[in-house]
Amino acid sequence: MEPLELWNPATFKQGFPHDYFRHKRENDPVFWCEHPHWEGFWNVARHADLLRVSRDSDCFSNQPNPFLPGDRGPAVEDGTNQEMLISLDPPDHTKMRKLVNRGFTPRRVRDLEKKIQAQVDRLIDQVSDKSSCEMAGEIAVELPLQVIADLVGVPEEDRHQIFHWTEITFGFDERYTFEEQIEAGAQMFAYADQMCEIRKKEPHDDLISVLLEADIDGESLNQVQIDVFFMLLQNAGSETTRNLITTGTLELIRNPDQMQLLKDDPSLIPNAIEELLRYTTPVMQFVRRPRYDTVVGGQEIKAGEPVVIWYPSANRDERAFQNPDTLDVTRDTSQHVAFGAGGPHFCLGASLARLEAKMMFEAIVGRFDGLELGVDDPATLSRLHSTLIDGYVELPLRWQSVKPAA
Ligand code: HEM
Repeated sequence: MEPLELWNPATFKQGFPHDYFRHKRENDPVFWCEHPHWEGFWNVARHADLLRVSRDSDCFSNQPNPFLPGDRGPAVEDGTNQEMLISLDPPDHTKMRKLVNRGFTPRRVRDLEKKIQAQVDRLIDQVSDKSSCEMAGEIAVELPLQVIADLVGVPEEDRHQIFHWTEITFGFDERYTFEEQIEAGAQMFAYADQMCEIRKKEPHDDLISVLLEADIDGESLNQVQIDVFFMLLQNAGSETTRNLITTGTLELIRNPDQMQLLKDDPSLIPNAIEELLRYTTPVMQFVRRPRYDTVVGGQEIKAGEPVVIWYPSANRDERAFQNPDTLDVTRDTSQHVAFGAGGPHFCLGASLARLEAKMMFEAIVGRFDGLELGVDDPATLSRLHSTLIDGYVELPLRWQSVKPAA
């Protein structure tokens, strides 16, 4: 098989190249890829090898950052990426994770439940007197954006501005230059600074206030750390969950027997969400670097060489899942790695994403009758320009009727 340009977002224009990775898992499970503007890198295709790399943080480091440069080469390094929680190694990572965890206790996530349900009801009500909509823009983008804003404490009137900055900084839209990305990041930081100033004078029951107060063994977060975390949350919280909602809905429509199972027995929905996470895997990869020479899947890797772990490939590994290319909402999903593989960086927002998805899919399955795609061929739908996040820019839907919220 001809090597694919795995650093190039264009390679993912038609979705994750599952055929290529199936071949690699079988014949060449840890393989090298050249990059025209960066170092070459190793690629890990199998589930067992991805588990090892994710969990062995003595050997594998996230420094200086775990992001694979795309077709434009590495981002201009202003230190922001290096300061992110996801770029730190233990013991710095462990300390910072403990501090930010204060904002993600089960109680805080549970407290959001009513707000999330209200947002879901509002978003579906808004389209309920129509017979079609563009789901990505009208529903899927809005939910995580509003939930993160509720969690962090961003006032209603500023939410869309913040989301606009998020989209620019993430770099999925080819229209924006590096300079515009950096400018949007700076505006986001200035906004977080200003929010902190307000909360210092008048604390609220929100994440910014919790982060300002967080103190573990005399250690607290400085202003730059709070700013960078604010940005990571906007990106990690919004751009991921929206794709689980859009691609998940698309896959349920394409698999009507699975949709029917959920309509007949909504108690299957939490497991269906895990299966949709496995099957659609919205986050495609992160980079690690070994601190010392090591061997992964029989392949020698030198200290410092980049190693890219491909989550969608691990989630379709026939060694870990039976009939991995079949969507089966009743399967045992416990081994999926869509939120990471249980290492120290395991997704901080997993319980929040699961809660949002549960409420949204309960509404999609329970309220819509005759839901179908608004286009004949889903292959014509445009996707995000990214090697990091897999998802659709648009998802036209139509339906016969929408039931009122329960
Ligand atoms: C469907 C939705 C989501 C998916 C698929 C997803 C996936 C991931 C993955 C694969 C990682 C890296 C795990 C590792 O390196 O071991 C990660 C880390 C992270 N996620 Fe998520 N995520 C989602 C939603 C969210 C949400 C809603 C938030 C925040 C509210 C969030 C915040 C984070 C943060 C802060 C990290 C870095 C954690 C660390 O470095 O310690 N994610 N996520």
